[in-house]
Amino acid sequence: MSGILETDCLTLTRFVLAQQATFPGATGELTQLLNSIQTAVKAISSAVRKAGLAQLYGMAGNTNVQGEDQKKLDVLANELFINMLKSSFTTCALVSEENDDIILIEPNKRGKYIVCFDPLDGSSNIDSNIDIGSIFAIYKKTDTADVSEKDALKPGREVVAAGYALYGSATVMMLSLGKGRGVNGFMLDPSIGEFLLTDQNIKVPEKGKIYSINEGYSYLWDDAVTEYVRRKKDPKFGKPYSLRYVGSMVADVHRTLKYGGSFIYPANKESPKGKLRLLYECIPMAFLMEEAGGLATTGRQKILDVVPTSIHQRCPIVLGSKQDVQELVDLYNPKV
Ligand code: AHG
Ligand code: MN
Ligand code: MN
Ligand code: MN
Repeated sequence: MSGILETDCLTLTRFVLAQQATFPGATGELTQLLNSIQTAVKAISSAVRKAGLAQLYGMAGNTNVQGEDQKKLDVLANELFINMLKSSFTTCALVSEENDDIILIEPNKRGKYIVCFDPLDGSSNIDSNIDIGSIFAIYKKTDTADVSEKDALKPGREVVAAGYALYGSATVMMLSLGKGRGVNGFMLDPSIGEFLLTDQNIKVPEKGKIYSINEGYSYLWDDAVTEYVRRKKDPKFGKPYSLRYVGSMVADVHRTLKYGGSFIYPANKESPKGKLRLLYECIPMAFLMEEAGGLATTGRQKILDVVPTSIHQRCPIVLGSKQDVQELVDLYNPKV
């Protein structure tokens, strides 16, 4: 229907409600939680788009537990996530990149979910107007013990839902509710303030033509990554790949999800665990990649099988098309 407003558009809220109906005994709490995340994302999207005009560029003036200078948008996005999640009455604990310790929700506001999130990913790109994002993973508390940090130190296999928002030319959200339900993509229509379904059941291509890694650290790479990248550029191994690297994980992962190829943030001689954080960057992205038919591994172990030991621990990661990721896994584990 050209020109007439769509009268039955599938909003993210409707989509989640329809999915809720497929969960036996669903209480609607996860729906409520996802709606609160949607609200945080819409507010962050609005702030990101006026940041340059609303004095939201630049530093907040303090350093986070990661040792990074917090940007004003880091702080604003973090407060939005915390406030929307706390007031949803669906969470009992939160882990944020921007908070040193786990946030335990006051008892009278508690629900059954634990949310690990990176409120603003790609902060170094904010002032240059390059794409940034938000990332989240959701666990369900499964015991009656008092809530503690232990509830967040679960392998990614136990995630019940994960997703990200990408504040790009449009604001999009990718979401998976796991158990083979796949990954679905939604685009924000600012004229009605709703996310509309645009990418149904996204599948990452078996093999791609792009590799994504910060080549500035090549002097620190191990032999496997060095050889992998060399082959990507050597015509003897087929048509050389293109290198694309935004420096915002969400942007690099979203391109990899859509176009295929590999995104790599490996361990290196200076950072033996790599840079990306397991709980709120690697696990949610790995959850989505596997749901989309891709792979995500440390090079030696599937990301979703890694058992976390601390809430801000870092983890090497290579994710993307099955064939492109397997090629690096085989270099780490040469067949004798
Ligand atoms: P954050 O902004 O949440 O701290 O994350 C930044 C991360 C990630 O977005 C990106 O993939 C990586 O930093 C880029 O690191 P380098 O600049 O070292 O390549
Ligand atoms: Mn990040
Ligand atoms: Mn961040
Ligand atoms: Mn950061």
